[in-house]
Amino acid sequence: MAKPVLLVTRRLPPAIEARAVRDYQARLNTEDAPRTGADILRLAQGADAVLCCPAERLDGATIGALPPTVKVLGTFSVGYDHIDLAAARTRGLPVVNTPDVLSVATAECAMLLILAAARRAGEGERLVRSGAWSGWAPTQLMGTLVSGRRLGIFGMGRIGRELARMAAAFGMEVHYRDMVRLPPEMENGAIWHEDDDSFLGCSDVLSLNAPGGEATRKWLNAERIAKLPHGAVVANAARGTLVDDAALIDALRSGQIGHAGLDVYDGEPKMHPGYLELENVVLLPHLGSATTETRDAMGNIVLDGIDAVLAGREPANLVR
Ligand code: DGY
Repeated sequence: MAKPVLLVTRRLPPAIEARAVRDYQARLNTEDAPRTGADILRLAQGADAVLCCPAERLDGATIGALPPTVKVLGTFSVGYDHIDLAAARTRGLPVVNTPDVLSVATAECAMLLILAAARRAGEGERLVRSGAWSGWAPTQLMGTLVSGRRLGIFGMGRIGRELARMAAAFGMEVHYRDMVRLPPEMENGAIWHEDDDSFLGCSDVLSLNAPGGEATRKWLNAERIAKLPHGAVVANAARGTLVDDAALIDALRSGQIGHAGLDVYDGEPKMHPGYLELENVVLLPHLGSATTETRDAMGNIVLDGIDAVLAGREPANLVR
């Protein structure tokens, strides 16, 4: 029997491309050039499955126009805010993603942003590389401890909970804001807040770990920023859309936010140009899940889901 046809929109780790080639007539993207919706429609002709990535928008029009042969859409990400899920449901197209396997890596990245921002690692690195570093000095690049400070986690899902575990080991007191309180055995001592005011008021360090999408668009706005303790540290390893960039930049300029660490941007790879002018923000290029082990695990779980749908089984990683 002929192998099913799988369109893969970006370069994937070697082990994952090898699996795709072994099990599918795989249409790989050897140049790794980002695909537009029009490209995907053209390349998906006759395909049984499409495996896309978060930088590609699968809007309603694209999903509606996918060839009828396409029976499943996989995304090489846990986030699916780039996919019009309502359109996929209407079209009867199951969507599978990569939950769980990237939680530790993304939480590590959030911790990296927190530490790098609080300890001014970006400024320090730039100083060393510029050749202008004149040696140790008692008042040089003084940052702030994270140990003993209060960490507010906005979005206590899998990644938020991993971050809470790591932060506790750094001696941080963990607070969280989510729609519902976790069962006590999952809280591990973290303190739930039912409203933004009490949550923000005790977030010396605020980490955004909620999903993107309309419900969280520009959640961190000027009004909420004003409720944070003066000089708070902000980290975002979730989605750029959670932040009102102009408001965050104003607050970084005024000192209301002391330091920020960002891995994600609204409209990335573009970003608000104001960030590039600021010393007190550390900017990473969406590295959250970028470890070899994690990316392999992501590839395997998304292919497991695609395999399951094409074999008529319910995938464990179906997006509902
Ligand atoms: C995701 O999985 O949603 C990340 O943003 C990419 O690792």
